[in-house]
Amino acid sequence: MSDQVTSAFAPLSVPKGGVFVVFVDATLKPSPNVQKLIAGVADQIAAAAKTASFRGKTMSSMDILAPTGVECERLLVIGVARDKDKKETDFAELGGYTLGKIGAAKAATIAFAAPDGGWGAEAAADFMMGAHLRAYRFDKYKTKIKPEDRPATPSLTIGVADIGAAQAAAHARKAIVGGVELARTLVNEPPNVLFPVEFAARASELKKLGVQVEVLDEKAMTKLGMGSLLGVGQGSEQESCVVIMRWNGAKNKKARPVAFVGKGVCFDSGGISIKPAGSMEDMKGDMAGAACVTGLMYALASRKAKVNAIGAIGLVENMPDGNAIRPGDILTSMSGQTVEIINTDAEGRLVLADVLWYVQDKFKPAFMIDLATLTGAILVALGAEHAGLFSNNDELASRLAEAGAATGEKVWRMPLGAAYDKLIDSKFADVKNAGGRHAGAITAAQFLQRFVNDAPWAHLDIAGVGMASPSSEINQSWGSGWGVRLLDRLVADHYEK
Ligand code: BES
Ligand code: MN
Ligand code: ZN
Repeated sequence: MSDQVTSAFAPLSVPKGGVFVVFVDATLKPSPNVQKLIAGVADQIAAAAKTASFRGKTMSSMDILAPTGVECERLLVIGVARDKDKKETDFAELGGYTLGKIGAAKAATIAFAAPDGGWGAEAAADFMMGAHLRAYRFDKYKTKIKPEDRPATPSLTIGVADIGAAQAAAHARKAIVGGVELARTLVNEPPNVLFPVEFAARASELKKLGVQVEVLDEKAMTKLGMGSLLGVGQGSEQESCVVIMRWNGAKNKKARPVAFVGKGVCFDSGGISIKPAGSMEDMKGDMAGAACVTGLMYALASRKAKVNAIGAIGLVENMPDGNAIRPGDILTSMSGQTVEIINTDAEGRLVLADVLWYVQDKFKPAFMIDLATLTGAILVALGAEHAGLFSNNDELASRLAEAGAATGEKVWRMPLGAAYDKLIDSKFADVKNAGGRHAGAITAAQFLQRFVNDAPWAHLDIAGVGMASPSSEINQSWGSGWGVRLLDRLVADHYEK
C-alpha cells in the first residue's frame, strides 16, 4: 500500500494531540467506552450539536475544536445510522468519509465503535480499507507542489476491542488496496510513459510476489498467428505484447485455473478512423481492463489466495500511420476466423479476440472473464453506475452480480443473441469488427463471443466505470481501479480451496 496514509489498530485510548474521532447516531451519544474515557463528552456533543444544527445523520459531521476534558485538538463527531444493516460498502465509505473530514491533520485516533458499542473486526478492516482507498493520490508529475503544500499523510490509530482479529481481517484488505492502487496508477500514467513494453515491465514486477510472468513479443505472436491483435498495433512505433501472469495458489496445482483477460490499448487514437480531438487524452485510459487484471493478480498473490488464476493482457497502441490497418482490410485471427475492418476505432475487440482464443486454447480455464473499456455505447446505456455484463453462463453472471452488490462495483446484465450476432456478419470475411449504429455495446460483445467456444465466459464493458467516473468517498482518482475488488470477491466467495 502507498504511504499516503498509515494506519494501525490499537486499544482505544484518548490521544494527546491530534484529532479524536467518535461516532454518534440521532441520540448524539457516542459509545459507552468513549463516554467512560472522556467525562461529560455526551453533554459537550449535545451542546455543540445544538449550535451546529448537527443531528447525527449518516455522512454528516461536526468538529469541536479545543474540546474540554481531553488533550486532543479536535473532537470530530461523525453521524452514523443505526448499525443493524450496515455492510462492507458502508464501512468502506465511512472510512473514506472519515479520512476526508480528518483533512490536513497529521494524526487521528478513531474510536471505532458503534454508538451502542458494536462493530467488529471485519467492519474495522473495511473502514481501514476505505480510508486507504480515499487517500490515494497521483501527483508524481506535479513538480511545483512545495513539500509544505502537499496534503498531510495522516497516521490513523484505529481503536478496536480485539486488535488481533482486526489485524487478521485487515490482511486481505491490504492486499486488495495495493491491487486497486496499482490499477489506478497504471490507468493514470500518461501514454508516452506507459506504452505496451513499459506496461509489461510493470506487470513483470509481480514476480516479486511469486507470480509467474511471461511476455509474448511480436515475433512470438506472429508465430502464434495473432493477426487480429497485431493488426491493431501495426500503425504504432511501439511494439505490441501480450503478458500472461500466473498465480498458482490452489492446493492442487493442476486444478483448472480461472482466467481474467484485459484490454490494454495504451492509447486509442482511433487509428485511420481517427477520433475527434475533444477529450482524446482520455484514451490513455483505454487499458483500464488490463490494469484491473494486473491489480487483481497483485491482490490475489499478496493475500496468497488459494486459487489457480491466469491474468492475460493484450497491450497495443492504436495509431494512424502509413502502415496502419485500413477500413476494408481483412485480418486473420489466431482462431482462423477472418475479420473485415469496418472501423479501425473498434480495435479493442480485435485485441481481445486473439487473447481470449489463446487463453482458452492453452489453459482450458474453468471460466474466462474479460474486462474492457470497449464501447462508448455502454456509457450511453448505463453511465458510471454499472459496468455492462454479458455472459454465456447464468451461474457466472449471477455470481458476478452478487459480488458487485457486495463490493459496490455493480454490474448490469445485457442481452446476447442470434439476432444481434447477425449484425456483424461480413460481406467479405467471417465477421466484421463493427455493426451499425444500434446496440453498439451488444454487437461488440457478440464479436467477442465468436472467439469463445464453450468455456463459461463473461465480458465486462467498463468504459463508463474504469476512468473519469464521478469521485466517491473511496475514490478521488481519475483512474478508478474498478473491478479489482469485484473480482477478488468473486474468487474469494466461490473459487478458493
Ligand atoms: N476505447 C473506445 C471506447 C471508449 C469510449 C472507452 C469512451 C471509454 C470512453 C473503443 O475502442 C471505441 O472507440 N469504440 C467505438 C466502437 C465503434 C467504432 C464501433 C465506439 O464506442 O464508438
Ligand atoms: Mn477505439
Ligand atoms: Zn478503444
